[in-house]
Amino acid sequence: MNFTDIKNTEDQFQVATYKKMGIAVERGRGSWVWTSEGEKYLDLYGGHAVCATGHSHPHVIKAIQDQAEKVLFYSNLVYSDVRAKAAEKLVSIAPKSLTKAFFCNSGTEANENAMRMARMATGREKIVTFSGGFHGRTADSISATFLGKYREIGKPNVPGHVSAEFGDIESVKAVADSDTAAIMLEPIQSMAGVREAPPQFFRELRQLCDELGIMLIFDEVQTGVGRTGNWFFAGGEFADSVEPDVISLAKSLGSGVPVGACLVNEKVSSVIKENDLGTTFGGGMLSMAAVVATLEAIENDNMLASAAAAEKQLRKGLDGVPGIKAVHGKGCLIGIEFEDKCAPVHVKLLENKIITGTSSDPNVLRLLPPLCITVEEINTFIHFIGAYEFKTETVLSERARRV
Ligand SMILES: Cc1ncc(COP(=O)(O)O)c(C=O)c1O
Repeated sequence: MNFTDIKNTEDQFQVATYKKMGIAVERGRGSWVWTSEGEKYLDLYGGHAVCATGHSHPHVIKAIQDQAEKVLFYSNLVYSDVRAKAAEKLVSIAPKSLTKAFFCNSGTEANENAMRMARMATGREKIVTFSGGFHGRTADSISATFLGKYREIGKPNVPGHVSAEFGDIESVKAVADSDTAAIMLEPIQSMAGVREAPPQFFRELRQLCDELGIMLIFDEVQTGVGRTGNWFFAGGEFADSVEPDVISLAKSLGSGVPVGACLVNEKVSSVIKENDLGTTFGGGMLSMAAVVATLEAIENDNMLASAAAAEKQLRKGLDGVPGIKAVHGKGCLIGIEFEDKCAPVHVKLLENKIITGTSSDPNVLRLLPPLCITVEEINTFIHFIGAYEFKTETVLSERARRV
């Protein structure tokens, strides 16, 4: 099918809920995708922060192929070698206190289970989250999402959700109390425009949670699995070494095979009894093979280091570029704040075959590239941005021709 046929068919038979780019992706390798028309695009959006190991990493492909030959799926009612390996591997890279995994299928489901476990561990119901945070679209997660219109479209909301201001411990103290089950946050608020908080904020949250017997949940659906240049935001220098009680994960975890997970400490895991949690597809063999291979690929190819290097290169390359106010984020989760709206830049980049993301802040362009992005690939982007700032479209297309 050519692009027009693909578009017309999708538009006719799918509910029109996504704002799509005008391309159809047919195949991918590393940081690149090829369209139905045979055109090659540099993917700095990483398929919405999913393709951390790059598109179709050979190690991941092989693991999925081998597993598919053996058995695609059996439920959690039997043991499985590949599930055992996935859980062991995930726990081995997690902050020390997080000793057990629960597998599910997506980010929103991971957060639903994280909140449920916090309620079970405390016997309380209230959940504190943050303005600007995004946690997913199922009932409890969307009720925890104090960003834009989400709570509105998720009505009726689950009761017991309140919000505080990200980075402001006094605002948390004003709403968190001895009735609170959990404080949950994205350690970097991605969709809100890659908003960051100082390490001290995480330390203060941990102290408050300990004082009041509240569970601390890090929603690391975006920041987890190496994206910040560390395996997790939790436990590292950006969080002042703070370890939460639960980390929720999805996106990068399976390199594109749908999978989510909660990592929990003993305080939480010890209260979970038989049949308290569950999901049919969670821990299925195919997704577990993808998890093991994803973590191995990140390790084997030194992708934590390349993610950290990508941030350094971007910061250096974008420093002083006219029209750019600030660069936010860590590793391969970057928000470029323009002095003006970034939509025209986003469109222009796409016309020149570079895919980037926007955010709910109209001035912030988001980059969520594969962690294996190369120096040359980042330079391609930096050159385009430089050219854009010098304005004329001629310069931009000349650059395009040269790259
Ligand atoms: C921080 C965060 N949490 C949760 C989710 C929801 O994940 P999913 O779309 O897999 O349900 C997202 C999705 O963008 C996210 O960015």
